[in-house]
Amino acid sequence: MTVSAKEAREIISFYREAGVDTLVGEKPVDRLADDAPPSQPASPPLPARGPNSANRAPSAPGADDRTLFQTAPATPEAAIMAARQAAKSATTLEAFRALLDAFEGCMLRSTATQLVFADGNPNARVMFVGEAPGRDEDLAGTPFVGRSGKLLDRMMAAIGLDRSKAYIANIVPWRPPGNRTPTPHESAICLPFIHRQIELVNPDILVCLGGPSAQTLLAIKEGITRSRGRWFSYDTGTREIRALPTFHPAFLLRSPLQKRLAWRDFLALEKALAG
Ligand code: URA
Repeated sequence: MTVSAKEAREIISFYREAGVDTLVGEKPVDRLADDAPPSQPASPPLPARGPNSANRAPSAPGADDRTLFQTAPATPEAAIMAARQAAKSATTLEAFRALLDAFEGCMLRSTATQLVFADGNPNARVMFVGEAPGRDEDLAGTPFVGRSGKLLDRMMAAIGLDRSKAYIANIVPWRPPGNRTPTPHESAICLPFIHRQIELVNPDILVCLGGPSAQTLLAIKEGITRSRGRWFSYDTGTREIRALPTFHPAFLLRSPLQKRLAWRDFLALEKALAG
């Protein structure tokens, strides 16, 4: 079937309006057909992707371990096991970043431009954790650089913090296509990663930005409206630290009236950091 330029434009705008903003292949695949190709190659490992892919796997301690995690796991359970093993095996943040960059067990990696690992100071006393990178972060390879990141910067500045005094990461380090919510399986795969990242950074205070971050890291069921502003305990694996859920800056952009509550949370954070 030949499609005219006008029809092609209409199809593309239909997809754009439906939220599709990422091209994962040039030809559509009918995955319901009996002879559909497997959704992920068992081997060999996928080549590195993204604009900076040539630079993305720095040589670092533990670089040999990376090869262990470069083959896509065969089942969802195997992917979670592989993530746990990969997380455990890294003993420095540099090695951990390199392992994550080579990890083939999370399919988000194949639609994302690149890994969005962290920003800020790994020696900071406070660590902020969001949910997942958006489009701007995916392109930059840095968390919280878009509109909500700019608001986060202003909120931090209001209590004397900036990215040289804080460390910033996400539960999921690859952008979900179209900014959709990560699936429970994707979050389960990435959970050992963020746990290990927190352990390696070893902050005194953890700030969970938004409900998904608070619920995932603090294993709580209640929504952010109930949990925000309350102090929780978080076990890093080596010690107990204090954890504070607060509203996600993207939510505050949509609901500016809630900024007064977020301001209270940040004042509590300032006090805790001074103590
Ligand atoms: N929202 C997040 O949760 N994380 C980012 O890095 C950007 C937006």
